[in-house]
Amino acid sequence: MATLHLGFLASHGGSNMQAIIDACKAGRLDAKPCVVVSNNSESMALQRAKNEGIPHYHISAVTHPGPLEDEEILRVVRRHGVDTVILAGYMKMLGPATLRAYRGRILNIHPALLPKFGGKDMYGKRVHEAVLAAGEKVTGVTIHLVDEHYDTGPILNQCQVPVLPGDTADSLAERVLKHEHALYVETLQKMADGRIVLETQEGDVAL
Ligand code: GRF
Repeated sequence: MATLHLGFLASHGGSNMQAIIDACKAGRLDAKPCVVVSNNSESMALQRAKNEGIPHYHISAVTHPGPLEDEEILRVVRRHGVDTVILAGYMKMLGPATLRAYRGRILNIHPALLPKFGGKDMYGKRVHEAVLAAGEKVTGVTIHLVDEHYDTGPILNQCQVPVLPGDTADSLAERVLKHEHALYVETLQKMADGRIVLETQEGDVAL
C-alpha cells in the first residue's frame, strides 16, 4: 500500500482529473494530487486546479520554446514530488526528458478499446466517429502506459461500453466519459494497493 503522488497534464476540460481529485478527497483513492500542468492557459483543467488549491502551471511551447518546455515540465513535476504522471486529455506528445525520467510511471486514458481506434489523429470526437463508422457494437476505455508513440504503450486496464442503436458521436462520448472517470480511479487504486505493479527499470523514476 503506497500513497501515489500524482502530477496531472491536461489541455482542456480536465473532467478525468477532477474525478481523480474527487476520489482522493472522498478517501476512495490512496493518492495525493500534487500539481497540475497545462499547455493551455484558458483550460478548465487549470481553473479546476485553482479551485482545489492544487499548485498549477501553464507550460507551453510559447512560454517555454523548444526543449525548454519538456525540461520545465520535468522540473515542475519533480519539484512537487510526483511519482506518477497522469495524462488527462493532454493533447501533446511528452518530450524525451520527461519520458525518460518517468518511464513506466506515465499513464494515459484513451476513449476506445486500444489497439483499435488509436494513433496520432485519433482523439476526441474522431474516435467515436470511427467506432460508429466501423459498426462496432462495443467500444470502451483503455488506460495504458505512455511511450514515445501515440497510444501504443502497455495496456494496464480496460472496460467495455456498449454502442447503442441511434448513438451519435456525442452520445457515445458522453457514455464513454463516465466510464473513463471510474476506470482511471479504479486503475490508480489498483496501483496504490499493489494489484497493478508497474515494472520500472532501475533508475528510471528519478525523483
Ligand atoms: C477524454 O475523452 C480522454 O479519453 C481523452 O481526452 C478526453 C479528456 O477529457 N484522452 P477531460 O479533459 O478529462 O474531460
